[in-house]
Amino acid sequence: MTNLRLFSLALALATILPAWASAGSLARGPYLQQATSNSIVVVWRTKGVSTPVLRYGNSPDALTEEVSGDSVILRVSADINAATNIPRLYKEPADEIDQREADHDPSTAANTYQFEAQVSGLQPDSKYYYAIYDNNQPLAGGDENHYFVSHPRIGSSTDMRLWVVGDSGTGEIEQAMVHDAMRAYVSRTGRSVDHYIHVGDMAYSDGTDREFQDNFFAPYQTTLRNTVCWPAMGNHEGHTSRGISGIGPYYDAYVVPTRAEAGGVASGTEAYYSFDIEEVHFTCLDSHDLDRSPDAAMAQWLRADLEQANAKWLVAFWHHPPYTKGSHDSDREQQLAEMRENFMPILESSGVDLTLTGHSHIYERSMLMDGAYDTPTTAKGVILDDGDGRIGGDGAYRKSKGLRPHEGSVSIVSGHGGAGISRQGTMPVMREIIIEHGSVILDIEGDTLTGTMLNKQGQIRDVFNIVKRGRVRPVRIKNPWQPIHDISLLTELLLEFNDVAPGSAPEGWRVVSGNPSSLAVTAEPNGENLLRAEANAEPLLAQYAQFDSSAFEFETGIRLPPENEKGAGLLFGYRDPRNFGRIYLDPAASVIRVSRFVDGSENIITEEAAQIPSGLWLKFEIQVTDVDIEVQFQDEAEQTREIEFTIGIDSPFPKSPIGFYLPPDSSAEFLYFEFQDNDR
Ligand SMILES: [Fe+2]
Repeated sequence: MTNLRLFSLALALATILPAWASAGSLARGPYLQQATSNSIVVVWRTKGVSTPVLRYGNSPDALTEEVSGDSVILRVSADINAATNIPRLYKEPADEIDQREADHDPSTAANTYQFEAQVSGLQPDSKYYYAIYDNNQPLAGGDENHYFVSHPRIGSSTDMRLWVVGDSGTGEIEQAMVHDAMRAYVSRTGRSVDHYIHVGDMAYSDGTDREFQDNFFAPYQTTLRNTVCWPAMGNHEGHTSRGISGIGPYYDAYVVPTRAEAGGVASGTEAYYSFDIEEVHFTCLDSHDLDRSPDAAMAQWLRADLEQANAKWLVAFWHHPPYTKGSHDSDREQQLAEMRENFMPILESSGVDLTLTGHSHIYERSMLMDGAYDTPTTAKGVILDDGDGRIGGDGAYRKSKGLRPHEGSVSIVSGHGGAGISRQGTMPVMREIIIEHGSVILDIEGDTLTGTMLNKQGQIRDVFNIVKRGRVRPVRIKNPWQPIHDISLLTELLLEFNDVAPGSAPEGWRVVSGNPSSLAVTAEPNGENLLRAEANAEPLLAQYAQFDSSAFEFETGIRLPPENEKGAGLLFGYRDPRNFGRIYLDPAASVIRVSRFVDGSENIITEEAAQIPSGLWLKFEIQVTDVDIEVQFQDEAEQTREIEFTIGIDSPFPKSPIGFYLPPDSSAEFLYFEFQDNDR
């Protein structure tokens, strides 16, 4: 940190030089925020001091209007020597400094000036071109690509296209492809996106100021210069930003309504807010770090906000999905369960049409549903239309005109915008479950909503419609259609044995060699169930037959009883009982040995010295790719006996299931198995 502090000091000295001596260079933006039918905020940053001027007008050559001086809100990085009433951009609090590595410093880059130009007096539904300047020196714009469009008047008939993205801010190729796919779709269909909703996790890994720049503002700049992004805070932004105080890089980046600037009821906080566009009421919640109980401030505000909503459509968005079994499980995780149990009842009693969330890295789209508040989620009695919801298919989901309570909503998990995708189960209320990167386009035109899922290649992978017309009387379907629970489609799987009755065999496992009676679930004195395997006179090979991948991670908790001096092995690349890969724990020789069996004969690839204590739980993490295998091993006391090694393999192991091996007359116990498919 010392070097950085010296550097900051030098910059602070530079800023007391006269303004003409140091021109600012554009460091972020320009981008748009908080649009209404007569106003918008244009935001940008410079590195180094500058005199902010925004000019706009009806053509790039006639930027006749100007915003400057007091109409531009200034924020500066903490190192800048400026008047105390000028708000400071985020700087990591002193008591948190040094808890992170230096390259994860969440503080705003030194010598940063942020400008928020408040444009007012616009004509509704009008396109304006703009440019930003440092005094008279152009920084950006003044061309066909820099424009904004004011909203039509609130209440005017709805005709909008929205882009919905979640969990995208990795800076990787998938994020760029998803963005490009949207832009190609927009130009192919001749209709641009009017509004952009990001449902959180836009700046991995920690939502630092630098990560916002590299993983959000830079990759999306061509869209952000014309389209307001309305954000919801994700847990990754929550590493450095706080909903309760409204402080952090996330809160610096966005200007969202807190005083009902764009309709709705004033929330008084940027953590949750609402706005109206045409005949649609939008409400954004903070599912990450605020009190989610039904009596807390956020729920109280939501009730008040929805009570006053005078719209034909109601769309709600936040980060943690009420229904998912993608990379997260809403039956098992508190934030997700609380959003379902505490917020879905409020939203549905106000007639919500659509909920948009992310967090779970997958695309899941529900049937038309209402009242699914139980944990675990079941589809019985909560589905109002179990068809595909497609005009031209089973027909659109139908609701009455206007906002009426409990006529059904569609839940979309759009957490597939860039980060690694996966699936660990089947959420029974879902109509479509797609493990591909992509995003969602929403077209709302009058009484018809069309949702389109575009994958990263630009292919349409799901379409559904909601039509709100006349009076519809919802009927609950007792035994609705159910998505097929196809375990071979899972990309993440956690097998524990607590749900299995002691004495019975675990599902999905197959003994491929050895005595089939020797796999059974037993109960520990502490109430935990585990899987106990015993080999008799023959070696025992068991495989988990329903997991099929050539690139995967595999983690297990294994315990060798004290009487087992022969050890045990974990299998991978299993083809048949004579051809497989094996990682063998050998207590007698004090080694971990990696071998490949070809036609029953063992070729040792490598051996690593390791004490293998009996009677203790050992954790094994194995990562297999086409070219190498990485093994990590830890005992229960963690860290004390950790080994890690990587071996290169010259030919890929076959795409095949995994399992374990026991030598004759031995036994072992397993607490859990966790698989992750990295093939996709
Ligand atoms: Fe998340």
